[in-house]
Amino acid sequence: MGRDLPWRRSRDPYAIWISEIMLQQTQVKTVLPYFDRWMALFPTVAVLAAADQQQVLKAWEGLGYYSRARNLHRTAQVLVQAFGGQFPKELDPVLKLPGIGRTTAGGILSAAFNLPVPILDGNVKRVIARLVALEVPPGEAIDRLWGISERLVPKDRGRDFNQAFMDLGATVCTPKHPDCPSCPWRTDCQAYAQGVQTQVPKAVVRSPLPHKRIAVLMAVNGAGEVLIIQRPQAGLLAGLWDFPRWRVGR
Ligand code: ADE
Repeated sequence: MGRDLPWRRSRDPYAIWISEIMLQQTQVKTVLPYFDRWMALFPTVAVLAAADQQQVLKAWEGLGYYSRARNLHRTAQVLVQAFGGQFPKELDPVLKLPGIGRTTAGGILSAAFNLPVPILDGNVKRVIARLVALEVPPGEAIDRLWGISERLVPKDRGRDFNQAFMDLGATVCTPKHPDCPSCPWRTDCQAYAQGVQTQVPKAVVRSPLPHKRIAVLMAVNGAGEVLIIQRPQAGLLAGLWDFPRWRVGR
């Protein structure tokens, strides 16, 4: 039995697209209330396309990676203007839409139209890496992992297969304590056969986080109004309102 998630009860490509974008960098439990609020505010692609950018950013407030919200808004306008408000059913046009990469495209096309389009999100990468006992960090074997995901997805069951693939990674083949005895792929898993499931996938050595010194101006006038400015349309927190701030020192 897969996880019961609101977007899985839908076959509406619009709702599925919204959920896949929210889930790109954000956990399911965080996305749930945002998804419901979003669908109440912008129930169709036409409503989203006609909305004001500030209203769209406001609905996204707290989810982070705000370029996702700006891309959703732009893509809604493209869908209305160039695709008659319909989500395309082929991979190539979907990949040209702002903010949609290969995994998101596969997630949408399989869930909405049951197409056998592969996915390769973080969970799926880990499951495949263990299946083949991958010797290198997944980032160094991306083409190979895509090839395996593509060969695995059955031609007539893209929807169920991809959702189950993600659930396997999220609930059984977890990063630290995989529950191998309950795994349906246990007998095919090379990492399990070798007893190295917790050492695969191999980790990348990360460079330390940069440290920046930022000065922030907080100014209030006699009327109690606070000075905020709109950030540029490109870069970090683009288009959002913020205190004036700038980098100081090195
Ligand atoms: N992460 C990305 N897409 C997802 C989906 N459809 N269900 C659960 N987690 C996901």
